[in-house]
Amino acid sequence: MKDILAQLETRREAARMGGGQRRIDAQHGRGKLTARERVDLLLDEGSFEEFDMFVAHRCTDFGMAAERPSGDGVVTGWGTINGRMVYVFSQDFTVFGGSLSETHAQKICKIMDMAMQNGAPVIGINDSGGARIQEGVASLAGYAEVFQRNIMASGVVPQISLIMGPCAGGAVYSPAMTDFIFMVKDTSYMFVTGPDVVKTVTNEVVTAEELGGAATHTRKSSVADGAFENDVEALAETRRLFDFLPLSNRDRAPTRPFFDDVARLEPSLDTLIPDNPNQPYDMKELIAKVADEGDFFEIQAAFAANIITGFIRIEGQSVGVVANQPLVLAGCLDIDSSRKAARFVRFCDAFEIPILTFVDVPGFLPGTGQEYGGVIKHGAKLLFAYGEATVPKVTVITRKAYGGAYDVMASKHLRGDFNYAWPTAEIAVMGARGAVEILYRSELSDRDKIAGRTKDYEDRFANPFVAAEKGFVDEVIMPHSTRRRVARAFASLRGKRLSNPWKKHDNIPL
Ligand code: HXC
Repeated sequence: MKDILAQLETRREAARMGGGQRRIDAQHGRGKLTARERVDLLLDEGSFEEFDMFVAHRCTDFGMAAERPSGDGVVTGWGTINGRMVYVFSQDFTVFGGSLSETHAQKICKIMDMAMQNGAPVIGINDSGGARIQEGVASLAGYAEVFQRNIMASGVVPQISLIMGPCAGGAVYSPAMTDFIFMVKDTSYMFVTGPDVVKTVTNEVVTAEELGGAATHTRKSSVADGAFENDVEALAETRRLFDFLPLSNRDRAPTRPFFDDVARLEPSLDTLIPDNPNQPYDMKELIAKVADEGDFFEIQAAFAANIITGFIRIEGQSVGVVANQPLVLAGCLDIDSSRKAARFVRFCDAFEIPILTFVDVPGFLPGTGQEYGGVIKHGAKLLFAYGEATVPKVTVITRKAYGGAYDVMASKHLRGDFNYAWPTAEIAVMGARGAVEILYRSELSDRDKIAGRTKDYEDRFANPFVAAEKGFVDEVIMPHSTRRRVARAFASLRGKRLSNPWKKHDNIPL
């Protein structure tokens, strides 16, 4: 009996060694952790329960029958993050370069199926040379099985991808269909075709880092939602994000203990808006002052910085924040910011996370670049996302809310629940200068007359009261009381029930 028990331990030891010490050393030499070290850091200590440790591939081509390592290049199972359940897979680059075989895919599919049944998120750690070349179409089939599950799980359980090594070819499409992608600087990359193919086809010479590294995907393509310095930071930040999210669309996000006064007044907010309406200010200051303990988890910080998206807590409850950032492009909406915010709003709505919107938007960015790029369709994404969202929606207009952008930014007309404005708000079809130039074109040569007209327009429209008279703004609030007002608004909405008419699915302007 003892021998049999010892045998199990020996087999486990062998499986834990993956591709062997030499390859583990090479992994460490690149500044990367191994698949198991990553799982250990991601999950609560001792909480990991492994599945399929002894699964081996069934390929016999290319001499593969002689080499059948236990686990087949991916570590799978479940554990907890701060006591809450999560399913995990972690590709092991030391075994056939973490490449995906038929059985490797089956292991991933097994935990995805369990996650769906049991209502818990899936975190995938990607570090792989892609399809297992020796297995041919069986490997492609394996990918497609994973893709199908990504699609079915979307909106049911949160899915998070960590890219911690290569992720190339069709392999990129599994992370692309998950809710959040985080990369590690200098050691991870994602692309559909690598630098060699790019050179052959387009004659462009580009490094893997330039083509698909963390900087490229967080700044240019927006494929990734965040980039971290190393594996340890990426795993720690993923734990932080996880705490904001519900386990599934059947659950609410957890309420965390908080040590902040819900009625905290912030006198400094009364002077946040500069006297000159064209002078910018940092909207992040407002977000930090409204959040419990100033804690803000930003999503896509490096992309389309003219809009800010991320999670805070108010009274211990998760809230998704969308805010125009006057510091960048004067806070204009454009193609990139509309896409970024629309996806975030839809995530929040799918997982019943209330949405707080801070508005200071001079309008949509004009120009041929925007029009040719389809700003109409992309802007409509954000409009659509806000309009279809049924979660509690609280909006605060701090300064400008002009034109179509006023409507888009969670206005009353898009079923906003609480629409507040600061006394500094200006809500109108357009700014005073533009409006006067159109309305009084014949008087343009008379500067005094135009100045008078401009002042009249400002007096009439550069305030929140026209909208408040119509009930489009529910209340004009003091900036210093914003946290208290917003907290009370969300508290009053905890029992909100709103649903959209039955449909197979909508046809959001993709
Ligand atoms: C089988 C693979 C492999 C693969 C790497 N290995 N990729 N084995 N199938 N796809 C093995 C190597 O043979 C090697 O084995 C070990 O993993 C480490 O690989 P190295 O090349 O030594 O490592 P490195 O120099 O770091 O380069 C990593 C790499 C490179 C850039 C990922 O290995 C590479 O280019 N691999 C091929 C990538 C690829 O073209 N994959 C198919 C993409 S198409 P030993 O025994 O020496 O340790 C695809 C389609 C998916 O994935 C479609 C879904 C719809």
